Amino acid sequence: MPPSYQEAAKQRLFVISDIHIDYKENREILLALSDTDYIRDTLLIAGDATDSADILRSFLAAMANKFAKVLFVPGNHELWLKRSDHTHSLDKFHELIEMCVDLGVDTTPQSIGSQQRLWLVPLFSWYHTAEHGERSLFLEKKGVEDKTHEMWGDFFATKWPSTIEDDICGHFLEMNQSALGRDYDAPVVSFSHFLPRQELMLSTEAERAASRLNFKDLHPEFNFSRVAGSTEIESQLRSLGSRVHVYGHQHRNRQRQIEGVTYLSHCMGYPKERKVGVVDEACAHPLEIWNDQDGFLV
Ligand SMILES: [Fe+2]
Ligand SMILES: [Fe+2]
Repeated sequence: MPPSYQEAAKQRLFVISDIHIDYKENREILLALSDTDYIRDTLLIAGDATDSADILRSFLAAMANKFAKVLFVPGNHELWLKRSDHTHSLDKFHELIEMCVDLGVDTTPQSIGSQQRLWLVPLFSWYHTAEHGERSLFLEKKGVEDKTHEMWGDFFATKWPSTIEDDICGHFLEMNQSALGRDYDAPVVSFSHFLPRQELMLSTEAERAASRLNFKDLHPEFNFSRVAGSTEIESQLRSLGSRVHVYGHQHRNRQRQIEGVTYLSHCMGYPKERKVGVVDEACAHPLEIWNDQDGFLV
């Protein structure tokens, strides 16, 4: 049945992250999204699309043709230098932001909606490692040898200027100051690639009981909490007064209400993660979380 006039007139907000479009299967699913169904809608992509700037450019251009508005923050994969001749990852970051401007893809706060309005606020970030103390989301993993330093691609594939090496995350968070200093006259949905809170890394008993997903630790020697995010992302989203915060990075999807904020991850993840049931098949498509007729759906 064709949508009613009202349905067709809705402005919807869709979110997704960790789309890893170097996997043909992921790329094809997203490029197959309708060219006409989303022309009034907004798509928010919370990082980890590809480390190739060329692939990212053509993908974002395709999404910008399908959606009225696309917002993007780079994840860690975007800043890998494997297929780039940048001296360091920060140069690449700035070039990607310029590329977004060029494509009409937004990386600064945007308001959407007509019947009801909403502000979308991108927060750039990285992670604080265990050495950064309480800003880190680090949790000890007992009883296994920690091989994170050998296993984590960022340690081999990114390079940073010596001036920010000691606090990469702090450098990115500082870039958010102008977004934090503004007044927002409608509810705020903020988004970051990295995690803002330690407890979001772990599933709860209730979540495991209510879900058919596979919660097994597939890589016991890898301690994700070393590279997960920062408590300072949390401080920033609280100072914004966010109603919803969308994040990605872990490929373990959750939706939780904590002290008035809905934290939501909707990572598409790798095809193999969907096959083994770590990520739900439904996450292969963007999730509608708000529209300007019904308000929040989460
Ligand atoms: Fe990812
Ligand atoms: Fe990531």
